[in-house]
Amino acid sequence: MKEVKIGLLGFGTVGTGVYELLRKNINLIEEKVGLRPVIKKILVKNLNKKRNVIIDPHLFTNDINEILQDPEISIICELIGGIEPAKDYILKAFEKGKEVVTANKAVLALCGKEIWENCTKRKRFLGFEASVGGGIPVIKTLKEALIGNEINSIIGIVNGTTNYILTRMLENNLNFKEALKEAQAKGYAEADPSLDIKGIDSAHKISILASLAFGIYIPASEVYTEGIEEIELMDLRFAKDLGYIVKLLAFAKKRKDKIEIRVHPTLISENHVLTSIRLNYNAFYITGDFIGDVLIYGLGAGKEPTASAVVSDIIDAIEYFYFGKRPFIRYPLTKNNHLIKLRPIEEVEFKYYFRFSAIDKPGVLSKISGILGKYNISIASVIQIGRQKRKGSVPIVMLTHETKEKNVNKALQEINKLDVVTSPTKKFRILD
Ligand code: HSE
Repeated sequence: MKEVKIGLLGFGTVGTGVYELLRKNINLIEEKVGLRPVIKKILVKNLNKKRNVIIDPHLFTNDINEILQDPEISIICELIGGIEPAKDYILKAFEKGKEVVTANKAVLALCGKEIWENCTKRKRFLGFEASVGGGIPVIKTLKEALIGNEINSIIGIVNGTTNYILTRMLENNLNFKEALKEAQAKGYAEADPSLDIKGIDSAHKISILASLAFGIYIPASEVYTEGIEEIELMDLRFAKDLGYIVKLLAFAKKRKDKIEIRVHPTLISENHVLTSIRLNYNAFYITGDFIGDVLIYGLGAGKEPTASAVVSDIIDAIEYFYFGKRPFIRYPLTKNNHLIKLRPIEEVEFKYYFRFSAIDKPGVLSKISGILGKYNISIASVIQIGRQKRKGSVPIVMLTHETKEKNVNKALQEINKLDVVTSPTKKFRILD
């Protein structure tokens, strides 16, 4: 059987997973594909590092040129992560006429335009299924299964760490720090966990999905991003009492000729299917004009699921290289790119959850509601939780009808300056 030679760049968690998958399922793959993908070389920093896997040490090299200059290697898997040297290696691989598979969301979300243009110019293949949602085939779903649809929206729980933290806080009464520690111990978090908890990892992922869904390149820097660091257990509980679960959601929506792209904590009604996505699971809720709603769900990180996605791309790369199968989607897609604009969050209307911290005395609510009225914000319901004992304040939780973000920001700025308000108001948007 003909062998297809592969070069791996990086042998961390994902690289090891790819090696193990190919070792275990090679016959199965060969039977299905008709070719045998074989790892010929693996780029590592340290040749002498002890590794928890049985592997021929001759496979390792610390010289990228041994892979790039090898004419036998037709597919390169970039599993290093980060921007450099990953980007440089990807571009050099295209230059050498090699197909590229990457699991690197940051490089695509921040330098995607250059990489895509290079890939197109050199007529090469770029597989990036593992960059978003680990093993969940969301890229293929958008690229292939839903190709006939105009995509109206994608709503995703795209970060396992934050989903795990929010689930554990609510269900097990943990505070934020305790839950984060657990997520790190379980290996879900990025090396720098602030990428997870500040929503940056989610912004990278939704930027990639939005570019695919809408055919224009939207860098992660254009994604409105809020994380979960400020979330307190009491808000998760109050929301639950009102019939909502708080999730960190990533949104990419197209309405008329404008695109909304944002990441922020969101209250979801307990009846919504996304509330059943717990712990480190990810999900993508996609709406297309003919398909309607689709939900795909699974493990968004980890050695095995991510390796599963990388190998799926390796097979696509083989089909491209050996069988001349053209990839479904090229970049850029839309000829009228310049007509598509992003809608700033200030222009979007939401229903809101507010938690005011206020002194417990007559007239406080009328001061707050007076300011809300001034900005045309209509109250749907309000509850004061408890009664102030001595010094301090009480939480007053309010739900609003739909209102523009711009008005809410102005109103809360004024409310936070009231002498009866003791700390900044908490604000969450509600998924309608
Ligand atoms: N840190 C990421 C997460 C890993 O928690 O989802 C996968 O991208």
